[in-house]
Amino acid sequence: MTAILLDGKAVASTIRSEIADETSKFKADHGVVPKLAAVLVGEDPASQVYVRNKQRACEAAGIDSELHRLPGDLAETQLLKLVSDLNHDASVHGILVQLPLPSTISTEKVLQAVNPTKDVDAFHPENVGRMVQGKPRFLPCTPQGIQQLLIRQQIETAGRRVVVIGRSDIVGKPIACMLGNRGVGGDATVTICHSKTLELNTITRQAEILIVAIGRPKFVTAEMVQQGAVVIDVGIHRSDEGLVGDVDFASVAPLAGAITPVPGGVGPLTVAMLLKNTLRAAQLSLPA
Ligand code: GUN
Repeated sequence: MTAILLDGKAVASTIRSEIADETSKFKADHGVVPKLAAVLVGEDPASQVYVRNKQRACEAAGIDSELHRLPGDLAETQLLKLVSDLNHDASVHGILVQLPLPSTISTEKVLQAVNPTKDVDAFHPENVGRMVQGKPRFLPCTPQGIQQLLIRQQIETAGRRVVVIGRSDIVGKPIACMLGNRGVGGDATVTICHSKTLELNTITRQAEILIVAIGRPKFVTAEMVQQGAVVIDVGIHRSDEGLVGDVDFASVAPLAGAITPVPGGVGPLTVAMLLKNTLRAAQLSLPA
């Protein structure tokens, strides 16, 4: 078997053009231009690339964006003041604080300071709680991108065995929750594996859909994957051979039913979902 390549870039491009159309209609109907404020603290090169890509994608969809670049030795109080200013700026609909933050700053405090109605990353506890209860305001971008990929590629999730490797707040926990929730792109039977999981291979081999967000290059190899499984690779790592994922693509692709490439898989979908959330934030900001 040779796996079907799940082309995240193509799906993201379709979604981005849908959002561009909807944004243009929203602007015409309401005279409001959706705007994202991105906050970048420090000089992390990967974060700089991600934020630049997000801003370019906004521009292409007709969404305004502004970047607040701050030095890595910034005091936590200064960052909290900026977040507060953005919360009160009516022209800003979405606020994104790029992670990771310097270790001198409490990520938890900063994410909690973002007004939940502008929290386009869906990291605020109120939005996490709403997602868990199946009544989301915003869905977190990477998990939402994965779910959209599954839906749009007609990969059934209802009743299927999903294994998620990784329990991060950004990907592992929310994707497990969303796929287990009721509704389209949900209703799966989900298992979460992590660094303390025993007999990991035995569990991952039961997966009909395997989602890998462990943050370790080429961690998943052929013996961990069931023949015909759908494999979603969330990882991205720079290596001597270029960008690689959390999945050893060369050994897994021949036996998988479908697999996301790295790059060009999950990454582009994350950006598309940020646009979707920013437009939604602007829609929610209108007076009732
Ligand atoms: N760092 C890694 N992924 C993300 C994300 O989805 N949002 C933000 N803000 N930072 C990140």
